[in-house]
Amino acid sequence: MSSPAADTPSIGRKIIVAIDGPAGAGKSTIARHLARHFGLLNLETGAMYRAFGLKALRRGVPLDDPSALQLLSAETTIRLEVGDTENRVLLDEEDVTGLIRNQMVTDAASRVSIFPPVRAWMVRLQQQLGAEGGIVMEGRDIGTVVFPNAEVKIFLDAAPEVRGMRRFDQLGPAPAQQPEEVIRDLRSRDQRDRNRADSPLRPAPDAVLLDSTHMTLDEAVKAAEAIVDERLAAAAPPAHSPTPTTPLSS
Ligand code: DC
Repeated sequence: MSSPAADTPSIGRKIIVAIDGPAGAGKSTIARHLARHFGLLNLETGAMYRAFGLKALRRGVPLDDPSALQLLSAETTIRLEVGDTENRVLLDEEDVTGLIRNQMVTDAASRVSIFPPVRAWMVRLQQQLGAEGGIVMEGRDIGTVVFPNAEVKIFLDAAPEVRGMRRFDQLGPAPAQQPEEVIRDLRSRDQRDRNRADSPLRPAPDAVLLDSTHMTLDEAVKAAEAIVDERLAAAAPPAHSPTPTTPLSS
């Protein structure tokens, strides 16, 4: 695990920052930045669903069979190791970090994540991971289900076209997909994430909404930083207790 950089303004408290939102909204960039800036550990829960999706694909377990997926989960361990730039994901102790970003696994992760037994298992793992606090955790249900008492909740969103183009730009110089295909895939994943019966993607009532449609990622990072600062200042006890006022008469 990486330790916070020495010159970060460590907040010295075991807070939890929950970042939720759809794919391509900039969650990972923002979570990474906030973790570094505030001296917190960064835990990316989507990687855990991706690792499980990969295992189901490898084993040939039907992605629409909750009982089979539940049995599979019982013989699976998934661990996140926090690194400086990204989490390493260990599936049954195998490092699968480089194997979980392709389109097949992306789709499988979204499919397996609709089933309550899979979610209950993941939520338990994530609550154990974050039990000590001092974390930024990003996903879809962190502020609503995993850590409903998180001190700071940010719901990050952006228009699907903008999110799709950001994803497309990340595909590198010889992209395997056209922009329209990336946007179409993203929309169908959005639909599944937002409409599943168990813990659909939606903002917690006390989340701060951050729409990055018209922002650069840099601007969104700064806005997120300001939200955390503001929330922490609001939650902090006053620096000095107020001087008692003298009663006018006694
Ligand atoms: O954040 P991501 O795109 O890597 O997530 C992959 C899939 O996992 C996503 O389609 C929905 C699911 N997911 C979820 O249901 N709950 C989370 N907390 C994180 C991810």
